[in-house]
Amino acid sequence: MITLNLFELRKSRGITQSYLAEVIGVSFQTISKWETGMAVPDVKYVIALAKFFGVTTDQILGLQPIKNDYFSRRTETAEYWKDKLHYIHNSRFELWNLDYMEFLVRKVWKIEQKVDVLDLGCGNGYLAGLIMPFLTEGSTYTGIDISEVMIQEAKSIYADAKFPVKFLCKDAYDHQETEQYDMVICQAFLRELSKPKEALKNMVDSLKTGGLIVCIEVDRELDNAGTYIEGMDYASMLMTEIQRKYWTTELEKKDRDYAVGIRLPFLLKDLGIRDIEVRMQDKVKFADPRNEDEYNRLQAAYVQEKGWKEDNTEGDRIAVEVLTNRGLTREEAEQLTQNWGQMKEKIMKEKKAFLKTTGFLITFGRKR
Ligand SMILES: C[S@@+](CC[C@H](N)C(=O)[O-])C[C@H]1O[C@@H](n2cnc3c(N)ncnc32)[C@H](O)[C@@H]1O
Repeated sequence: MITLNLFELRKSRGITQSYLAEVIGVSFQTISKWETGMAVPDVKYVIALAKFFGVTTDQILGLQPIKNDYFSRRTETAEYWKDKLHYIHNSRFELWNLDYMEFLVRKVWKIEQKVDVLDLGCGNGYLAGLIMPFLTEGSTYTGIDISEVMIQEAKSIYADAKFPVKFLCKDAYDHQETEQYDMVICQAFLRELSKPKEALKNMVDSLKTGGLIVCIEVDRELDNAGTYIEGMDYASMLMTEIQRKYWTTELEKKDRDYAVGIRLPFLLKDLGIRDIEVRMQDKVKFADPRNEDEYNRLQAAYVQEKGWKEDNTEGDRIAVEVLTNRGLTREEAEQLTQNWGQMKEKIMKEKKAFLKTTGFLITFGRKR
């Protein structure tokens, strides 16, 4: 199927299908068919469209992207997160094995005294619920996040918390405190930043001497490799080579670091942290359709993480636009979205069993 760039061009000029139809000399239904891929224009119309929009015929045909300038989704701003609560709700289902966090607190980090904890990019306070129950009475938790929406929800969730808790709406880049906390943590936060090292430095500065820093962050290569859906071919469904192109473009453009998890020990070393160790989060979700309720929740979590919708024509169009903007050819972008479509079909319609790791690396060390 050929997907023309017609819709994007028409929208960017703010003109209606009827207006374009009149200029080109066809019916507006024809324009609609061209935009949805139900029909392809004759060469004379492709040329007419290219002239009208002042672009090349390849750009009309979708063989070249229209926008050449890289655009960032600006995941380090409050604007991006203002409507992402549903994402947090669904994607946090069964994210951790509680016993593993207990093991880390008691056996690995050996926290026995009460501690003051700071969580940067805390979202709705997920880590507070995960860690605080295992800490000694008298321990406190402070969460900081740029998004007012997240902070409001965090405040309501923890209104009756059994431990002293404080949530502040603040940009982590501006958070400058010195030696206040015994433990500074973050999860799935540094991966959203263009300058993770700056935020990390603020985390280190906030830590008391002898204090513990813990960063739980993704590595997309691990995350991607740790996925399997029943009935699909493991090697070909991953499309790692193609995906790596857009991950690395985001990195080159200093937008986001897809592998910040794997780089963290090195960043912490540069910031003077000692006794650095790395563990892997041990949760592997196996969704078995015979357990219907659990399957449905794991399915919702996965669908949310991928951003899939039931009817995704519009979503696919946007995905292709984003992917071509991040260095994929049109063919690769379409191949990848089709592949995601197949995965979605297997999970949402056919309800196939699937397996998913988190790809989280847990890097920790002490300030000496
Ligand atoms: C993927 S969520 C993770 C939330 C939480 N740590 C968790 O694991 O559930 C990323 C969070 O980082 C926050 N964030 C992004 N940029 C930020 C910044 N510059 N300063 C503070 N928080 C930021 C977002 O608002 C969002 O809540």
